[in-house]
Amino acid sequence: MPTLATTVNGLKFKNPFIIASGPPGTNAKVINRAFKEGWGGVVAKTVSLDCSKVVNVGPRYAKLMAGGGGEVIGWENIELISDRKFEIWLDEYKAIKDAHPEGILIASVMEEYNKDAWCEIIERCQDAGVDAFELNFSCPHGLPERKMGSAMGQDPALLEEVCGWVMGVSKIPVWAKMTPNVTRIEDPSAASLRAGCHGISAINTILSVMGVNLETLRPEPTVEGYSTPGGYSSKAIKPIALRMVMEIAQLVNKEFPDRTVSGIGGIETGSDAAQFILLGAHTVQVCTGVMKFGYGMVRDLSDGLLGFMVSKGFKTLDDFRGHSLPYFTTHAELVRMQTARKAEEAAAKMVRSDAEWDGDDFVKQSDALSR
Ligand SMILES: Cc1cc2nc3c(=O)[nH]c(=O)nc-3n(C[C@H](O)[C@H](O)[C@H](O)COP(=O)(O)O)c2cc1C
Repeated sequence: MPTLATTVNGLKFKNPFIIASGPPGTNAKVINRAFKEGWGGVVAKTVSLDCSKVVNVGPRYAKLMAGGGGEVIGWENIELISDRKFEIWLDEYKAIKDAHPEGILIASVMEEYNKDAWCEIIERCQDAGVDAFELNFSCPHGLPERKMGSAMGQDPALLEEVCGWVMGVSKIPVWAKMTPNVTRIEDPSAASLRAGCHGISAINTILSVMGVNLETLRPEPTVEGYSTPGGYSSKAIKPIALRMVMEIAQLVNKEFPDRTVSGIGGIETGSDAAQFILLGAHTVQVCTGVMKFGYGMVRDLSDGLLGFMVSKGFKTLDDFRGHSLPYFTTHAELVRMQTARKAEEAAAKMVRSDAEWDGDDFVKQSDALSR
């Protein structure tokens, strides 16, 4: 029987399935539930030192249904980071680790462009006993107005400086979470890795407008008659996430071979997870999937991934991580390979017809001789 257990940056995960930062990791009660259900890790909801600056609005979600009804395939949110007190979070981190020492608890943190604030939040969280950090450089709405989140993630020089501050005080593994709202995901990823981060998480949500209500003529989600672009997640973003994870994994393999990748974006099944791992992910994270299907989905994820491994004869995740990466090339190279293959086929056809002619000729000759 294959195993899903995996060690990533020295952290022992019983499986590669991690709850991504968001509503499913919003307090100790739900995080404990996640560990009880069997998740390998949880990234808690992003925290900052001063929650009084975090003011949420409602409604803050809007959904895209397949074929106009039924299944949710796209999800937009304008939710901010945690609006719960930092001190409460510190007590909860301790309590969660006491209750589930084997569960990998990752604190997601975000601060303004201020070295002291970043050092303080890192030191206080690690003193509370979390296993690792995820630096949220990726929230696309609300926080960028305070130069936080994706405002930092879109500026590689700033990112390298802030990651450097964090690496100066952190004694545990650090992953930097990327925003997909950039042209080249390799640039901010490389900046974080140059600063010493142990891994990259990708992707956060994609900046989006869910739609316009044709009755009221107002954009959605509508708050007091107005809207603001929000973050798009769920199944619909998986192809974009896979492309970005592939690009990050190629960068990691080439320039930072000891670092790791945590794949995020639209993962709902073991087959989805297998695809992210085939493209280089060490772990996979799920947020909207848990909001749709509940914490128990980790059992289906595990069964699905194990089923794939059995069908292909893989014993561990290492056996197939990054297996599909070498099969990407440029479009020009696809044209060259296809033209070469067609030319080879045409040549083979000519050789075959020559051989057939020779064969007929030989039969005719031998018939004539035997007459
Ligand atoms: C409602 C909601 C709230 C989120 N809040 C956070 C957050 O606080 N910090 C963070 O890093 N990502 C946050 N995310 C992003 C997710 O962690 C994840 O990167 C993204 O949703 C893509 O994964 P998914 O398709 O599995 O949801 C949030 C996503 C949603 C849908």
